[in-house]
Amino acid sequence: DVVWVVIPAAGVGARMQADRPKQYLPLAGRSVIEHALACFTGHPSLAGVVVAITDGDPYWAELTATSLSGQGAVHTAPGGRERADSVLNALDYLVDTLQVTADAWVLVHDAARPCLQRADLERLLAVREQCVDAGALLAVPVRDTMKRAQPHSLRVARTEDRDGLWHALTPQMARLGVLRTALATALAQGATITDEASALEWAGLQPLLVEGDARNIKITRPADLALAEFFLTFRSA
Ligand code: CTP
Ligand code: MG
Repeated sequence: DVVWVVIPAAGVGARMQADRPKQYLPLAGRSVIEHALACFTGHPSLAGVVVAITDGDPYWAELTATSLSGQGAVHTAPGGRERADSVLNALDYLVDTLQVTADAWVLVHDAARPCLQRADLERLLAVREQCVDAGALLAVPVRDTMKRAQPHSLRVARTEDRDGLWHALTPQMARLGVLRTALATALAQGATITDEASALEWAGLQPLLVEGDARNIKITRPADLALAEFFLTFRSA
């Protein structure tokens, strides 16, 4: 099997309120996105990486000129308005520029997720035969009790059944052709698409949940950076 990696990295990180997009913030000796890339570069089963980058992004230019240079081919595609647009641009690049065929697999992983562990990546790659047409994603079961609020209110309407509820993580995996068609169709139809699985679901598919490690957090708010630093420093914690 041919497996490619797509890293959406064209967000501005508004919720992080930092002086630059969060994927370029320093974390345990390098930038967040370098940690995210490190899980994939040099992996023997992966064909390569396409990173979706905002046009003219000075931080990416600096990285490629310094620490990423000589690390093998990391391709770039233009970022889009939403995360799904960035991913679709990268898939288009795989098809149009790199001539990757529709039956190749694609792993999509957030640039803002620096703590992916090799074991989780391997567990996801291992389910390819079980999810040939539907895709799969890393996820963790919800632990807290879940409350549904009354519409437009902070009053509790009820407690939701937590059984069978999962937090969706990345990487999310699907066949290139399946995912590209699903994303393009869902976006054209105005669906709310926040991850690859939601596009596949929109197409009527049922992606496979693969239980991952809860330390694979997305850097979203300032406190997440401290947590990620801890996880990376104490890998076995
Ligand atoms: N992303 C992207 N293109 C966009 C928006 C987001 O490639 N138009 C990427 C981000 O760079 C990030 C991932 O998608 O790696 C997850 O998105 P999110 O956590 O929402 O990042 P931001 O959009 O940058 O953050 P915020 O929503 O707080 O502005
Ligand atoms: Mg966002």
